[in-house]
Amino acid sequence: MKDPVPLPTSLRILPDDWLNPLPLDRIFGRRAPLEVDIGCGKGRFLLAHAAAHPETNFLGIERMLRRLRKVDRRARRRRLDNIRLLRAEAYYTVSYLIPAESVTAYYAFFPDPWPKKRHQRHRLFDARFIDALHRTLRTGCAFHFATDHIPYLEAVRELVGNDPRFEEITPYLPADDEKTNFELLFEGKKTIGRCSFHKVGRTG
Ligand SMILES: C[S@@+](CC[C@H](N)C(=O)[O-])C[C@H]1O[C@@H](n2cnc3c(N)ncnc32)[C@H](O)[C@@H]1O
Repeated sequence: MKDPVPLPTSLRILPDDWLNPLPLDRIFGRRAPLEVDIGCGKGRFLLAHAAAHPETNFLGIERMLRRLRKVDRRARRRRLDNIRLLRAEAYYTVSYLIPAESVTAYYAFFPDPWPKKRHQRHRLFDARFIDALHRTLRTGCAFHFATDHIPYLEAVRELVGNDPRFEEITPYLPADDEKTNFELLFEGKKTIGRCSFHKVGRTG
């Protein structure tokens, strides 16, 4: 029997250069479509989705170290070599570290809603972040958003719905094993709002 390939000691990446786009092919050791989970939390979606799509590279972005360590441990246990993890702030990462037109899907599930009016400026989704998503998405590819806070869903719809660079498509519905930890908390108790938009324009 062949010896199993040794597990990497960590799937976390530490960029050599924080000011320029990440060398994705080197980081993943191959060229493949890239999907990004923004604020991946404990990674229930990321782990299930990456297991179901071994042909795709997945980057999980999360600023909480404890959550990221958990995802790292679980991904290595499941030998999910198509996952890499970055402990960094999502706006900075998408704006400065993700190469232009490199992403085939973004998932932002239950980003912090900042429900109080005076805190809303802390929300991740604003006009600048939408610009960064647009810059880094490939044409025809989408970002998927879900929240338990319907005013946040409405704000994203208002922000992107009238933007000719995007078109609303059928929302992404996760399979049962892909439901995030926060979705499981809210399921049956709160309305969950979802929307998905793809980047329009010339393909190829
Ligand atoms: C409400 S939790 C949702 C986690 C996961 N997506 C889920 O649905 O279970 C939001 C997560 O996003 C992370 N987060 C919030 N703002 C962030 C930012 N600007 N950059 C990176 N991570 C962020 C938080 O640390 C937290 O783990």
